[in-house]
Amino acid sequence: DTAINILNESPIIDGHNDWPYQLRRHMKNSINDVDFLNQDFTKLYNGSHTDIKRLRDGKVGAQSKTSFQFWSCYCSCNAGGKDAIRIALEQIDVVKRYSASYPSTFQFVTTAAEIEAANSEGKIASMIGVEGGHMIDSSLAVLRMLFALGARYMTLTHSCDTPWYVHPLLATAFNTAKTTGLTDFGKLVVSEMNRLGMLVDLAHVSDATMRDVFETTTAPVIYSHSSARAICNHGRNVPDDILQLLKTNQGILMINFYNDYITCSPTANISHVADHFDHVKNVIGADYLGMGADYDGVQRVPDGLEDVSKYPNLIRELLKRGWSEEELKKITGKNLLRVMRAVEAVAQQQQTSNVLPDETWISDSLVASNCRT
Ligand SMILES: *[C@@H]1O[C@H](CO)[C@@H](O)[C@H](O)[C@H]1NC(C)=O
Ligand SMILES: *[C@@H]1O[C@H](CO)[C@@H](O)[C@H](O)[C@H]1NC(C)=O
Ligand SMILES: [Zn+2]
Repeated sequence: DTAINILNESPIIDGHNDWPYQLRRHMKNSINDVDFLNQDFTKLYNGSHTDIKRLRDGKVGAQSKTSFQFWSCYCSCNAGGKDAIRIALEQIDVVKRYSASYPSTFQFVTTAAEIEAANSEGKIASMIGVEGGHMIDSSLAVLRMLFALGARYMTLTHSCDTPWYVHPLLATAFNTAKTTGLTDFGKLVVSEMNRLGMLVDLAHVSDATMRDVFETTTAPVIYSHSSARAICNHGRNVPDDILQLLKTNQGILMINFYNDYITCSPTANISHVADHFDHVKNVIGADYLGMGADYDGVQRVPDGLEDVSKYPNLIRELLKRGWSEEELKKITGKNLLRVMRAVEAVAQQQQTSNVLPDETWISDSLVASNCRT
């Protein structure tokens, strides 16, 4: 099977999987009660898309051996200015714990080289993406500490304006009625992410914020889970003129499989997903495309792409549509590895001083009372 061969050589690097959120919802992160190696997670909760068995032994077999995921650490916008940092830390903790508990399956990694090393040992490389700028609570210090804990991307906002406690509006929501882009503090956050070597994720942000980030960033950016707006006119998707900016930036659009972003309706199938790949390839080429399925983060996924064992079906569909093996190896993993290496190189260039940007936004009331009023 050509698709399986392609995936063995260039494993799936999925930009966005919300399994950690499901573990929080359904198990309150008490994961030791479950034998992950043998548990069928569909028996634990309806709509489950992810478990080791399907990552490893799905119908399509081989792909799962080498698949790799960015585990999303998501917390609701409502927690902004309240428990967001606690939740971020707990979600990072749960990813680290299951990765450590099943060392023959997972390897926690933070660099492109470590992904390849994990992969060559037949392990699933676990990486962390933080979904929502509200989890740094307007603090560059918190951003740096999340990076130190292993977070390698941050989505600048989720489905709300990032509710900065001290400084309002890093970025606006995907609600396109809002046109506010990055504030000065938002630009500082992007620059600090560049300096650290943290991928800037533009999924969920407004068009205005996308444009501002392209003007600000010195490294390639990612869309960890967004699709093409020309195919489905949804604010979560990326319009063609911004795809051109992405190409200039040398970043990557990782296609979201959520039915509502694929067809702008509750139903979709694998052809509809392939249409997004074809479209983006026609507009900017295959070098800036990847997969960010959003498994376990959405309720409706396309027929033929029901869970994490199904990626090979998409590869087969794209082969039928005339994609070359080389192009397919890029969109399964090589494009993201290229972006990560570029981001790592920019960080190396920029880390020329031991003096880090100050924590500029500690308010008088936080100093005076050491707590919020
Ligand atoms: C899944 O949903 C069905 C009916 O919709 C219900 O009978 C079943 O108990 C649910 N299973 C789990 C594990 O929640
Ligand atoms: C997907 O659905 C469309 C109709 O919306 C149909 O034309 C197409 O054949 C379907 N593709 C697959 C793979 O079932
Ligand atoms: Zn999301």
